[in-house]
Amino acid sequence: MTGRAAVIAGIGSWVPPRVVTNEDLSRQFDTDDEWIRTRTGIATRHFVEPGAATSDLAVEAGSRALKSAGGQPPGALVLATTTPDRPCPGTAPEVATRLGLDHIAAFDVSAVCTGFLYGLATGAGLIASGQTDRVLVIAAEAFSTILSPTDRTTSVIFGDGAGAVVLRAGDPDEPGALKAVDLGSDGSGVDLITVRAGGSRQRSTGLPPAVEDTYFTMDGHPVFMQAVLRMAASSRTVLQRVGWGVGDVDRLVGHQANLRILHAVADQLKLPREKAVVNLDRVANTAGASIPLALADAAADGFLRPGQRVLMTAFGGGLTWGSAAVEWPALDLV
Ligand code: UT7
Repeated sequence: MTGRAAVIAGIGSWVPPRVVTNEDLSRQFDTDDEWIRTRTGIATRHFVEPGAATSDLAVEAGSRALKSAGGQPPGALVLATTTPDRPCPGTAPEVATRLGLDHIAAFDVSAVCTGFLYGLATGAGLIASGQTDRVLVIAAEAFSTILSPTDRTTSVIFGDGAGAVVLRAGDPDEPGALKAVDLGSDGSGVDLITVRAGGSRQRSTGLPPAVEDTYFTMDGHPVFMQAVLRMAASSRTVLQRVGWGVGDVDRLVGHQANLRILHAVADQLKLPREKAVVNLDRVANTAGASIPLALADAAADGFLRPGQRVLMTAFGGGLTWGSAAVEWPALDLV
């Protein structure tokens, strides 16, 4: 990227305290720890308590990211979420107010599991255009609230959580600068990952929704194939844009959809699997929040270190996908 760069200046994350194990789910669904571990790599996930909402997670992650970045107030807040507190209005203004950031620009971005990368690109655009020098980008999901109590497959995959970064205006060559971003979509796959009811298409019928249509559905097989192909292709695009070879990548931070998907993406790129950041065993697939949560966890446990070259890539409903490259900066972790 040229001109004013967007530089990662702080990071924060949060998962709700309630841990749900595979054994817990096997009491509710016809499933077991063996199937979930071998098919997905997931052992535990976190779910919000009854009455909690996405904004609660966003505020926790956002406040930590702001502290990590030194506390200066941002001029804009971008919130990526699939599970807004309400269909209307967006959740971002309430999050901004609860963070004490009254009257800043605040809006939601809807790109499901690619939400963080779309949010990151949006935040970088606000900086590049001179709209503001500092943006808080949060991705937060209370995904458990849209899981069907009768769908064992989706119910064992997803978890709740939030991650956030602060972007500040800076130099394209400094550590933390977003070096390249690739985003894409394919609306012909709209039905592969969806909540059918609750939007204008269903509401305009004037009929109450079928209960099952109010929950999240996913056609796992085609999504699996598309996820691997799109993340690998988008990753290659970003590597080309930034001028890195595959061997230059120190850490692959892929959307934590499924361990088999992460490994397949690494294999397609001919990147050693050991370079992939993995935290889905503990937090499962947290949709849009999964990349910033993985970044924060890996930075906290020392797997991700300053100076390492990081390739982020994600795929999700829409269909949407994206990738980004950054040299990891030295950050205060809170
Ligand atoms: O985050 C957005 C992007 N999302 C993704 O990228 C997810 C992509 N998809 C996947 O990760 C996988 O397709 C799943 C994890 C969703 C499913 O894994 P799979 O290996 O594709 O399983 P499957 O759908 O082929 O099902 C295999 C078997 C079936 O039984 P039969 O027909 O072979 O008798 C399912 O009914 O596993 C059964 N099954 C389960 N068994 C125990 C499905 N879910 C479960 C379960 N426990 N929870």
